[in-house]
Amino acid sequence: MKITTKINIMTTAWILCVLVAVNVVVFFSFMKVTVNMEDQELYQRANTLIKEMKLDQSTNLVKDQVIPYLAGQSFIRIVEPGSKITHEVTNAKLISAKVKPKFVQKKVAERKTIHQKNGEEEILVIRVPIRSDGKILRSLEIGEKLSGLELAKDVLLSIQISSTVLGALLAMLGGRWLSNLIMRPISNMINTMEDIEQSGIPKKIVIQHETRDELQKMAVTFNRMIGRLEENLEKQKQFISDASHELKTPLTVIKSFADHLLRRGIRNEADALDAIETIHSEATRIQKMTERFLDLAATESATLLETKSLDLVVLCGNISKQLQSAYKRDIHLHFAAPSIMVTADELKLKQAIIILIDNAIKYSTDKIDVFLNVNEQNTVIKVKDYGIGIPEYEIKNIFERFYRVDKARSRETGGTGLGLAIAKNIMKQHHGEVKISSKEGVGTEAELFLPKSERKENE
Ligand SMILES: Nc1ncnc2c1ncn2[C@@H]1O[C@H](COP(=O)(O)OP(=O)(O)OP(=O)(O)O)[C@@H](O)[C@H]1O
Ligand SMILES: [Mg+2]
Repeated sequence: MKITTKINIMTTAWILCVLVAVNVVVFFSFMKVTVNMEDQELYQRANTLIKEMKLDQSTNLVKDQVIPYLAGQSFIRIVEPGSKITHEVTNAKLISAKVKPKFVQKKVAERKTIHQKNGEEEILVIRVPIRSDGKILRSLEIGEKLSGLELAKDVLLSIQISSTVLGALLAMLGGRWLSNLIMRPISNMINTMEDIEQSGIPKKIVIQHETRDELQKMAVTFNRMIGRLEENLEKQKQFISDASHELKTPLTVIKSFADHLLRRGIRNEADALDAIETIHSEATRIQKMTERFLDLAATESATLLETKSLDLVVLCGNISKQLQSAYKRDIHLHFAAPSIMVTADELKLKQAIIILIDNAIKYSTDKIDVFLNVNEQNTVIKVKDYGIGIPEYEIKNIFERFYRVDKARSRETGGTGLGLAIAKNIMKQHHGEVKISSKEGVGTEAELFLPKSERKENE
C-alpha cells in the first residue's frame, strides 16, 4: 500500500473516531441537562399548583383552574395510598391511560417510553407528596409528553451525523493534502535517485521551498552527499588526467630513444648505450611513480591500520642510518627521551617519515636534523633542513597531489609531487596532521603530529 494511502486512511480513521467520541459525549450531556431542566420545571409547576389550589387542605382539582397547568399533551392527577386516582385532569387521554398511578412518600421523576400507533413517545412523570398537617395522605402526579426534547434530540442527531460525515470528508481531503505535502519531496528524491541509477551521473534534488523541516534537511543532506560524490569523482578524473600527464613525458622519452635504437641499431655503441641508459632511467621513474600512485591509493581510504606500540627513537634511528648510507648525507637525530613510545602503524609511519627526510635530502645540500619531542597532546617528529625553502605563498599548495614548486627542478630530483599528499593521508589515518613551515633560501621545517590519546578507528 502506498504511504500516501496509509496516511490518508489513518488520519481519516483517527479524526472519525475523535468526532464520534465527541458527538457521543455532547449528545448524552445535552440529554442529561435538558431532562434535568424539564424535571425541575415540572417540580416547580407541581409546587405552584399545590400552593395555588391549596391541595394540602382540599382534595379537589378544579378543572378550569388546572387547565393552564397542562402544557402540550399532559395529565395532572391526585393519587391516594394504594395508588388510586382520586382526581385527574388531562388533555391527552392516551398518555394518561398508559401511565399507571403511583402513590409516593417523596418526590420522584421518571422517564417512560410508551408505544403508540405512530411510533414511540417519551413521557416525563413527576410525583410529589402532598403534606397536610405533617402527614402525607395524597400525592400529586404530573405527566407530560417530551415532544420538545424529541424534536431537539432529532435535530441534534441529524446535525451530529451530518457534521461527522462532513468532518470525515474534510479529514480525507486534509489527509490527502498532508500526505502529498510529505510525499512530494520524498517522491522528488526517489525520482532523482532513479535518474542517478539509470544514468550513473550524480544529480542534486531541486529544493523548491525553504521549509526548514526534516524533509528539507533530508534533501539538503542528500544534496551534500551527492556534492561529495561529485567532488570525489572530479578528484578521480583529475587524478587520472594528472597521472596520465605525468606518465606521458617519460613514456615519450622512452619511445623516442627506442625508435632511435630501432632506426640506427647498435652500430654506434656509445650512442646506443646512452639511449639504453635513458630508457632505463625513465623506466625507473615510471616504476617509482606507479609505486607512488599505489601508495596514494592505499592511504586515500580509511582502511584499518595495523597499529602497535613502537619506539620512535629506534624507528627514526634505523631510518636515518639507512638514508645516511644510501644518500651519503648527514642526518642528526635529536630525542627528548631515550625511548619515545607511540601507537601507530609502523610501515605507514615509517613511510611518512621517509617522505619528509627524502624531501629534505632532495631540496637541501647541508646537514639534516630530526627532532623527536613530546608535548601534552602530541608526539612530534620534526625534520629540519637548511636548503632552498618554499616561498610562503606556495606552502598551502604543496599538499595537493602532483603539485611541485619548481617543476623543472623536481624532474631533476625525480619528484612526482605525491609525497606530501601521501604523508597527509597517513597522518589523517592516525588522527594526526602534517605541518610545514619554511623560509625561502633559509630552510624548511616539516612536522608530523601524532596524537597521544589513542582514538577509536571510527571516531
Ligand atoms: N624540504 C623541502 N624544501 C623545499 N621544497 C620542498 C620541501 N619539501 C617539499 N617541497 C616542495 O613541495 C613539493 C611537493 O613535495 P612532495 O614531497 O609532495 O613531492 P615531491 O618531493 O616533488 O615528489 P615525491 O615526494 O612524490 O617524490 C616539492 O615538489 C617541492 O617543491
Ligand atoms: Mg617528496
